Amino acid sequence: MRPVGILGTGAYLPEKVLTNRDLEKMVDTTDEWIVSRTGIRERRIAAPDQASSDLAVEAARQALEHAGLTAEEIDLIIVATVTPDMAFPATACLVQDRLGAKKAATFDLSAACTGFLYGITTAAQFIATGVYRYALVIGVECLSRILNWEDRNTCVLFGDGAGAAVLGPVEEGYGFLSFELGGDGSGGEQLKLPAGGSRLPASEETVKNKLHTVSMAGREVFKFAVRVIGHCTEEALKKVGMTKDDIDFLIPHQANIRIIDSAIKRFGLTEDKVVINLDRYGNMSSASIPVALNEAVRDGRIKKGDTLVLCGFGGGLTWGAAVMKWARD
Ligand code: ACO
Repeated sequence: MRPVGILGTGAYLPEKVLTNRDLEKMVDTTDEWIVSRTGIRERRIAAPDQASSDLAVEAARQALEHAGLTAEEIDLIIVATVTPDMAFPATACLVQDRLGAKKAATFDLSAACTGFLYGITTAAQFIATGVYRYALVIGVECLSRILNWEDRNTCVLFGDGAGAAVLGPVEEGYGFLSFELGGDGSGGEQLKLPAGGSRLPASEETVKNKLHTVSMAGREVFKFAVRVIGHCTEEALKKVGMTKDDIDFLIPHQANIRIIDSAIKRFGLTEDKVVINLDRYGNMSSASIPVALNEAVRDGRIKKGDTLVLCGFGGGLTWGAAVMKWARD
């Protein structure tokens, strides 16, 4: 198997900032409640004329430039999202067209907040086996479009954004070392967008009852997240004979600072070893991990040879982790 790693990263965050103070004027909440329960201070909101593909294209262009590749060289584009521009064509097709990535195979992947982990795991198999050479994996969400802005339980938690990574062959000993993916459909009810699919097509009734917005059992999801963030990180490390002491950087899904703190405690990490951006962006579902990765790469925190653990969890229920030795200078 050919060693596979990340050759370049990129991100795009919409300009509009929605602060907790802004939310105080919209629903019965306070900055103090949101910060103490979640760690979130502000989030980005896509402009009315922006859809997920627009955010994705910006992040992808950056990642390609960072990798020193042109769009024509990309063999595969995977877009992980629960907020595609439309049910079909796939957002990956729209992105391919805008980038001019003419030879790329394209598909969307739905694994909620674990989408980026599922995406890089899938893309890496194609490259490791020699089927493809370069893949673009994008996590993108316009969650603001599927939130009930009258529901304080959910609308304060999420934000819009896109993160991208270009995957390709790397030198021996670097790149992805292990993957751990999981799912538990019995927990699907805990986090879902009830209507708009074949079960409950859009109707006056579904619109009236706000069934096109996120429904979440917060406490249950919280307990699940605390359980899996530790478990799947440990499983991914175990697969390559590593322990928590080998972690240089943990890049977790950015859902809630208390969930991340549980991992920091469990693994005895210091905060400088954990990449956190939820205070500025909230939970961007599949975009959270690649945006955080891009930040830590671009500001020079992550260096060649560092051991990274990426860990995600979310709707499905789904979870995943990847261990990698950073391959870029
Ligand atoms: N402002 C003020 N009060 C609020 C707000 C708000 N924005 N939201 C909820 N409350 C109230 C609730 O109504 C409840 O009031 P009640 O006791 O009178 O009914 C009270 O606060 C406490 O609610 P809890 O659910 O106990 O609060 P908790 O400490 O669990 O925090 C939270 C809620 C932040 C949603 C937490 O459960 C959580 O983070 N869960 C995980 C959510 C998550 O991360 N989801 C996504 C992960 S997976 C993925 O990313 C898709």
